[in-house]
Amino acid sequence: MGFFITFEGPEGSGKTTQIRLLAEQLTKAGHQVLLTREPGGTTIGNAIREILLNQAHTDMSPRAEALLFNAARAQLVAEVVRPALAQGQIVLSDRYTDSTLAYQGYGREQDLTDLRALSEFATAHLAPDLTLFLDIDPVEGLRRKRACDDEWNRMEAQTVAFHQRVRQGYLQLASQEPARWRIVNATHDVATIQREIQQQVANLLLLHVG
Ligand code: TYD
Repeated sequence: MGFFITFEGPEGSGKTTQIRLLAEQLTKAGHQVLLTREPGGTTIGNAIREILLNQAHTDMSPRAEALLFNAARAQLVAEVVRPALAQGQIVLSDRYTDSTLAYQGYGREQDLTDLRALSEFATAHLAPDLTLFLDIDPVEGLRRKRACDDEWNRMEAQTVAFHQRVRQGYLQLASQEPARWRIVNATHDVATIQREIQQQVANLLLLHVG
């Protein structure tokens, strides 16, 4: 089995840049790396992404939203993630089940026990080996995102209070499972953040070699 590493964080936390840099470093070091993102990462998942993030879909019910994120996830896990792990690859995913707990659970205030059960079903109980949380105040994150993104999606368009709940939710999730989570300060510069991420990933890989 390979390694499954997930990246979580509020909007504008710089996950995408950091994942790309980490993938380059791991590839150079001789690892087989697979990059993916949620929602999306498959043809079916991308079609679902389109529905989920469409600004016109203001009347989507919170339960439909949770099911759609998990439908995309189920497809991604079955089609991409599990086969790659079975080949011994390192899978880096931009978001995973914790996004549902943070956004639909803490953000939309839906029942966390139900959401956990839904994610367990969608993934057939596939849990990450390591989850890196890129922590940033949502106001700063949204400001950064606005500066470099012309497209504003349906989730980003939620209120600041929603995004504050999401961040607090992440911090709570991290405190409940400290062995899996690492909190990285995402206000530092790109190189500093990347160094810390590489260190955490090296620790994980060493732990399993040793
Ligand atoms: P995306 O453009 O991929 O943003 P980011 O770069 O921040 O990941 O949009 C994904 C949005 O969907 C983002 O606002 C987080 C949200 N989301 C959920 O609400 N629940 C989920 O389970 C997932 C995977 C994402």
